[in-house]
Amino acid sequence: MPPSTAPSRAAAPNRFGQVFAPPEYDAATYRRRRQSVLDAIGVNTLVIYSPPEPHRTHDLNYRFRTDSDVYYLTGFDEPETVVVLTNDHAEHKFVMFVRPRDPERETWDGLRAGIEGAKAKYGADEAFPISEFNAKIGDYFNRGTTLFFKFGRDEHFNQQFLSTFRATRMKKMRGGTAPDTIRDPLFILGDLRLMKDADEIERMHRAADIGAEAHVRAMQFAAPGKYEFEVEAELEYVFRRRGAYGSAYTSIVGSGANGTILHYNTNDRLMADGDLLLIDAGAEYGYYASDITRTFPVNGKFSPAQKAVYDVVLAAQKAAIEVVQPGRLFGEYHQAALDTLIEGLRDLKLLDGSLEEIKTNKTYEKFYMHRAGHWLGSDVHDNCGYFTSEFDELGKARYRKLEPGCVLTVEPGLYFAPHLEGVPAEFLGIGIRIEDDILVTADGNENLTAAAPKETADIEALMKK
Ligand code: GLY
Ligand code: MN
Ligand code: MN
Repeated sequence: MPPSTAPSRAAAPNRFGQVFAPPEYDAATYRRRRQSVLDAIGVNTLVIYSPPEPHRTHDLNYRFRTDSDVYYLTGFDEPETVVVLTNDHAEHKFVMFVRPRDPERETWDGLRAGIEGAKAKYGADEAFPISEFNAKIGDYFNRGTTLFFKFGRDEHFNQQFLSTFRATRMKKMRGGTAPDTIRDPLFILGDLRLMKDADEIERMHRAADIGAEAHVRAMQFAAPGKYEFEVEAELEYVFRRRGAYGSAYTSIVGSGANGTILHYNTNDRLMADGDLLLIDAGAEYGYYASDITRTFPVNGKFSPAQKAVYDVVLAAQKAAIEVVQPGRLFGEYHQAALDTLIEGLRDLKLLDGSLEEIKTNKTYEKFYMHRAGHWLGSDVHDNCGYFTSEFDELGKARYRKLEPGCVLTVEPGLYFAPHLEGVPAEFLGIGIRIEDDILVTADGNENLTAAAPKETADIEALMKK
């Protein structure tokens, strides 16, 4: 595995305003990652794929974004690609099935690497047209007993793959052996992707810088009498303008009570004096995401009730970030956030009982109903396991330990939906979340998104300018 210790960026320059060129293809990085997979699969074969372009309307598609594992191992980003890594063939270790060159289609849809490009640029030992996958995959079933196959989001391909596997296996077994087990490679790919290498950390810094700049711009722009979508446009402007693919996920721009809806994203309300605005938005740069939430008053000044709740969420977020340290368990920072939120809710007289009673009865769940964060990387919710294969004395799976090179979000919140009963009117309609992206380092952590202000005084000062 490549070294994953991040350089210290304590005195990092603020890269606001910088336009980042698309990352360059670096063959050695992808070769090194493929070798890590080959080292882990024994005398076996691994198959992953990217789907066709997703349909949008009639005969038009969404812009394509390839599968994160395919990109991680190849840097190749065309649709309809199958990547085979194998130790079960005399000559080939890395095989690609791709769309062949096609002058007519390339006139409409853009250039393709084709068979030659897959070998010459992307380093495949052998490459074939995707249409030959069914006929050729059996060449990679010889001595191996396990086929590592990542079931992807394309059910048509998943089904087709199973049919091919069954037919190929029957055919091979007439003359020898074939794999008898299909295994999810998450434990290999997820573990590799969890520990970010230097190239990934640089991309994540850029995604974080672009995302933080977008939040600052949104704070400077927002005002009563503007629509949420106008703020969304300011975010998207920064994302594209600075060189990101765009938003890493559909931006949440929720004013007033919309901030209490966790996945709100219609973003079409007219903002009013006295509203809070919750923005959960991040950029995707070079296939890596930032994921940032800030909540601020549209008129630039927190009301006493808004500030009281905000201070509880901020204290919870800081307490949780403190716990993000190498050697601590993944679940610990959620507990730190939860304990602080509950203490705050008790101080505000919004919850009764002891900390333990509240936790046991989960009475906090009407105000806080999600976890304090997730792995972050090429997928916003990065596809890496949260648990080890061990169990504790109560039979519960053990969380994995944080290690240098992991990146996770810390994002506690409190949400007072307008329909809640028994909550003073001054709190109803308040939704607050604060989210940063935290890199675990050898001696602690680094907040990649610290450049987006979150202290109430800093936000108010920025909005006054
Ligand atoms: N924006 C998705 C999340 O915060 O998990
Ligand atoms: Mn988020
Ligand atoms: Mn998140």
